[in-house]
Amino acid sequence: MAARDSLVIDHVRKVFPMENGELEVLKDIDLEIKKGEFISIVGTSGCGKSTLLRIIAGLEKPTSGKVLIDGKEVTKPSVKTGMIYQEARLFPWLTVEQNIGFGIHEKLSKEERKKRIAGYIDAVNLTGFEKAIPGQLSGGMQQRVSIARALINNLNVLLLDEPFGALDALTRINMQNEVMDIWEKEKTTMILITHDIDEAIFLSDRILVMGKNPGEVKKELRVDMSRPRGRNTAEFIKIRKNIYTEFFKDSEIELEYYI
Ligand SMILES: Nc1ncnc2c1ncn2[C@@H]1O[C@H](COP(=O)(O)OP(=O)(O)OP(=O)(O)O)[C@@H](O)[C@H]1O
Ligand SMILES: [Mg+2]
Repeated sequence: MAARDSLVIDHVRKVFPMENGELEVLKDIDLEIKKGEFISIVGTSGCGKSTLLRIIAGLEKPTSGKVLIDGKEVTKPSVKTGMIYQEARLFPWLTVEQNIGFGIHEKLSKEERKKRIAGYIDAVNLTGFEKAIPGQLSGGMQQRVSIARALINNLNVLLLDEPFGALDALTRINMQNEVMDIWEKEKTTMILITHDIDEAIFLSDRILVMGKNPGEVKKELRVDMSRPRGRNTAEFIKIRKNIYTEFFKDSEIELEYYI
């Protein structure tokens, strides 16, 4: 059985009841993720990626199978497991520091609290914006606030569901660099869902390619490149080609035109 220090997805299956029968969304997902590992999941729309993250977060129950974090079965949401969505979901009337402070679940003295918040504001490069409200920030800045708010509880696991999907290309690359910095500092286990193949290669130790109907892991790629990773190195391009090949395998489209 799995090490205590890990995230185990043990034969997870998820079926949703439908009017005309059942929809098998996830079929036998079986994974072991090491503590501090960075995993990305790519796959076509509707293949069950968000459903899988919601099960890991304890927001949804598997039909069968189970998820274990550090040896304990997940049965409900935990403050040690954070979730970041495509949109930042901040309180619009609270300032940056109040939004981040809202995430703290521990009892801390006023001083400790202030110090902790300042540390995370610095980690996500928002020093100087402590008193700003979300409406005064760009989309990327808002997303950094939500990342700080999640991380402030010394998370075991951070789940990211297309966190940079709504950002422009340049902001997106900046955010990827920041997530990498934070991951290297905090050693939080991270699972990222993305439609951006380069993002997955840039960040991950392993990339899982999911297929649809039912959702299952079709392929797993290990990215054995040192960090920081050059996005135009031969190795990077080779991994990119491998992933695209997996996506286009069953289609009529000529892969060569696309990469
Ligand atoms: N609560 C629910 N009840 C019924 N069906 C659901 C429910 N949640 C998700 N589904 C269905 O499960 C399938 C997978 O949905 P999910 O949101 O996990 O996909 P996804 O891979 O995250 O897609 P996308 O890339 O578009 O975000 C879809 O067919 C969806 O309609
Ligand atoms: Mg989704």
